[in-house]
Amino acid sequence: MITANELRQKYLDFFKGKGHAEIPSASVVPVNDPTVLFTTAGMHPLVPYLLGEPHPAGKRLVDFQRCIRTGDIDDVGDDTHLTFFTMLGNWSLADYFKQESIEWSFEFLTSAEWLNIPLSHLAFTVFEGDENSPFDQESYDKWLSLGVAPERISKLGKEDNWWGPAGKTGPCGPDTEIFYWVGEGEPVGNKGTNPGPWMEIWNNVFMQFNKQEDGTLLPLAKGSVDTGMGLERTIVALQHRSNVYQTELFADILKKLEELSGKSYEVDAEIKKSMRIIADHIRAASIMVMDGVLPANKDQGYILRRLVRRAIRHGRKLNIESSKMIAAIIDEVVLSLGESYPALIEKKASITAAIEEEAKKFEKTLAQGLREFQKVWDKTKSISGEDAFNLYQSFGFPLEVTQELAAEQGQQVDREVFAGEFKKHQDLSRSGAEQKFAGGLADHSVETTRLHTATHLLQQALRDVLGNHVAQKGSNITAERMRFDFSHGEKMTPEQLAQVEAIVNEQIKRDLPVKFELLSVEEAKERGAIGLFEDKYASVGGKIKVYFVGDYSKEICGGPHVEHTGELGGFKIVKEEAVSAGVRRIKAVLGV
Ligand code: ALA
Repeated sequence: MITANELRQKYLDFFKGKGHAEIPSASVVPVNDPTVLFTTAGMHPLVPYLLGEPHPAGKRLVDFQRCIRTGDIDDVGDDTHLTFFTMLGNWSLADYFKQESIEWSFEFLTSAEWLNIPLSHLAFTVFEGDENSPFDQESYDKWLSLGVAPERISKLGKEDNWWGPAGKTGPCGPDTEIFYWVGEGEPVGNKGTNPGPWMEIWNNVFMQFNKQEDGTLLPLAKGSVDTGMGLERTIVALQHRSNVYQTELFADILKKLEELSGKSYEVDAEIKKSMRIIADHIRAASIMVMDGVLPANKDQGYILRRLVRRAIRHGRKLNIESSKMIAAIIDEVVLSLGESYPALIEKKASITAAIEEEAKKFEKTLAQGLREFQKVWDKTKSISGEDAFNLYQSFGFPLEVTQELAAEQGQQVDREVFAGEFKKHQDLSRSGAEQKFAGGLADHSVETTRLHTATHLLQQALRDVLGNHVAQKGSNITAERMRFDFSHGEKMTPEQLAQVEAIVNEQIKRDLPVKFELLSVEEAKERGAIGLFEDKYASVGGKIKVYFVGDYSKEICGGPHVEHTGELGGFKIVKEEAVSAGVRRIKAVLGV
């Protein structure tokens, strides 16, 4: 029976055989994109390239991308929702289009040399057309020409056969989706007529438009292809399982939980659910920490904290102490995912330490919450919805635990009152978080790209004015402004700031061309490039990508950038401040 690792390897080998370059999986924390918390699809790190920025590895790419989706976090534990998953993807960046894309998907799935799936067990959907884009006749005809029976192809609308953009704006277009029969007996019908037993395994998106803020679809100069095959669900189908927990990806983790708890996974639905949640959450948490996320009260760190705490709560339900659970489960996660993500193996000790520390903190919270619960109880012999919210709000004591304790005393907590208090509080503190979930890099690709090029000019100007000790310590770009942290021991004087600003504006006026070259580390050093020589995003097949802004700046960087500095408009520094000893921060805007 094919394993997930074998499927991954076959996929890469197949597309490499079709001239695709393998690119590494990017971090689950998007780079240079503070508007979304996590990478949610294989195309996410590739948005600039799907919009036309040249990719250093070429026009045909293949990879497997680690993804986190937290939208359905409360559904985890059922048969289909995971917070962490791997998406296999192949891309044409304005190279091949529908013909090759469909032909190769067909070959990979059905040929004896590759997955050897009987054609009768596959069904397909194509876009039926609407006011923006016509019926996808080409994809329909292509499937037919490959021998697909017409009754296996459904023509569906935008809800089913249109993908993107990832955020509010960006690349999007019609898609054709591929389904595998997971029902009993012989396959019947298609996705349109018999949706239940047809499980989506692959989505080929034909990017033809760049959606604008106002909703208009601007045609792209040339179409691109973005495909996504969910590794976990495809392996469920190929192994004829009912859910991913039955595959080797989870088997040993669940066995370990049975061992630790002395309980059996199969007997009780609640036990089963708790074990699934722990397994999913510790997998996702391990990957997040591998990518540098640490538990915190906001952003990615908050999601991580929530996952770890929830896993511990379910551990408690199974009578497993977190001190016994965390390291043991992480061991299994690393065994199962280490081949795909070797950094898990390298960083196992620090990942375990970070999650165990969070577990200890949570245990303390629980102990304190229990004391507070007791105080309230002793006073009133009851726990109201407001009490439950106060315990949650002031001590981080989870509602579920309050409910459990109240139930032990034969009482119920008024969930509605709790929810009402919760909502009041949420409305007050919502603003920032909500914006973060709203969009993606694509939302502001033009603005962020301009600001990104401006950081290169800024860094060089700072070196010109302050000296060559200046090096980038961090950067964060939103559509409105850039934040640039750099090494420098003292506050900059107003004169220095004015000088830096003037230099950057002069380079913008010169309308310098922005170009990159792929160089070896040696060559890059020789030519005086600055930047992080170990930058993974800028490296391709042993070469690093160096951006040249005219004759003014040379910097290692993955891109994207504008083509000419004239596109930036006026540059203005709005703030200069200390971040920590020896590190200063500049906030700046463009278009002034
Ligand atoms: N971007 C497409 C998806 O996530 C392939 O389904």
